[in-house]
This record gives sequence, C-alpha cells and structure tokens, in this order.
Amino acid sequence: MNKDWLKMMDEKIQSWLQIARKNALESVNKDLKVDTKTSRKDLVTNVDKDNEQFFVRKIRENDPNSKILGEEGFGDKFNSMEGHVWIIDPIDGTMNFVKERNYFAIMVSLYVDGKGVLGYILDVVNNDLYHGIFGKVYRNNELLNKPDDIHLDYGLMGMSAPLLIENAYNMQTIAKQSEGVRIYGSAGIQLISVIKGELVGYISHLKPWDIAAGRVMCESLGLTVTTIDGNKLDMVSSETVLVATKIAHKEILDLVK
Ligand code: IPD
Ligand code: CA
Ligand code: CA
Ligand code: CA
Repeated sequence: MNKDWLKMMDEKIQSWLQIARKNALESVNKDLKVDTKTSRKDLVTNVDKDNEQFFVRKIRENDPNSKILGEEGFGDKFNSMEGHVWIIDPIDGTMNFVKERNYFAIMVSLYVDGKGVLGYILDVVNNDLYHGIFGKVYRNNELLNKPDDIHLDYGLMGMSAPLLIENAYNMQTIAKQSEGVRIYGSAGIQLISVIKGELVGYISHLKPWDIAAGRVMCESLGLTVTTIDGNKLDMVSSETVLVATKIAHKEILDLVK
C-alpha cells in the first residue's frame, strides 16, 4: 500500500467530511426532505442522498478503479472485498438527525483486499473527527491511547433497542451483567464511545456501512470485532456485531444463547 497516496487521500477525505458536515448542518435547519424506506422507522433525507452522491463523485475522481458500497445505493453492486472498496454511510443515525438534530455521524472507510486501511467517523454536531490510519487512531488528529481491557461488569454496554427489547441472543442477561446499558441510536456515535473507553462494548444488528469505519479503529486499539457467534465479519453481509474489550468479548460470548 502506497503510504504517500494514503496520506494524500487522508487529507482529501478530511476536507470532504467538512463539506458533507456543512451540508448536513445547513439543511437540517431548512426544508429537510424526509422519506421512509422499509418502514416508518427507517428514514432517509435529501442530505443522506446528497452526501453519498458527493462522496461517490469524489472517490470516483480520485480512485477510479475502486468499488464503492454506499447505503443509499449510489455506489456499486458487488459481493467480493477484492481490491479497493470504499464504504460510505452518508448520515448514520438518520432518525436522530431528523428528530434531535444531534447524535449523528458521517462515516467513510477504505478496505483493500478485505483489510481495513482507512476509517473515519465524524460526530457532526461536535465536529469531532475520529480516524484510523497506519494502525493508529486519532481524535481531531491527536493520537488516542488504547482503552483499558476491562471486564463486562465494570463497564457500560452499548446495545441497540430492538435486540434488548426482544432479548435476542440473551441480551437482557448481558445487559444485567454489565454496569449499565446505553442506547444512542447511531452506530457511529456508539462506536466512538467504545473507542474512547467510555463503553466496554457494543452489540447491534448492522450493515457493512454501519461498522466498516469503526472496525478499522477498534481493531487498531486492541478491541475485538466479530459477529455475535464469534466469527469474522465479511463486510458484505448484514450481521449482529459484537465489539468489546478482549476480556468482555470472551465474557459476552459465554452469555450469548
Ligand atoms: C442506523 C443507526 C442505528 C442502528 C441501525 C442503523 P442509519 O443507521 O446506526 O443506531 O441501530 O442498525 O441502521 O440507518 O441511521 O444510517
Ligand atoms: Ca438508514
Ligand atoms: Ca448507519
Ligand atoms: Ca445512514
């Protein structure tokens, strides 16, 4: 992998994220167009679509032979992670974006032959950028330390509401075993909390674009990222994903039913 090219792309991606951020903040205060997709709880706005089209255009200009996976469908259709694969979640936490105008993120990542190489999560309202490059993780370009490898009972556990309500995979026992549960409504914002060591872990049913950028950073920080059965993620399928400190990851797998 050419380091100079990655450094150049890093600068460009950071500038594109700022343009997408500005678009989100400006549009949220004026004529936001909100539509539903699969259900009344599955929203999409003009900003999700505009941001994705913007990233797809920029990536195609700069990395023309790559494949792009975008949530809103402006990228390509494929099921192999061979070569350069860019993964985009143009607004993560669209429901929060529409209802709360807060707690949402923009996420971009690059995988090369299935290996995470670049990962970006921008907490839009706080303008806090978390990114991973060359095996290191930064918050606003300041190096982050690895979070402590803590036990489940010593940490707050991030979960998605449907899994907890339905007690899928014995989720309520996992919740009780932890020090407390947090549900933020944005995979990106939850993953930032895991990266910072505020949450001991996170479990949610996720699409590749929900986990791709966070996975790059989590793995660089010594956190474990697998499916809820303990298997490797393939990054093309939807999976129930378990991210946690090494110790808590083992403890959670023992509780999963
Ligand atoms: C959703 C959010 C939510 C998670 C869902 C995702 P979206 O992303 O990250 O927290 O529980 O699984 O689909 O659709 O708002 O980008
Ligand atoms: Ca969505
Ligand atoms: Ca998402
Ligand atoms: Ca999204």
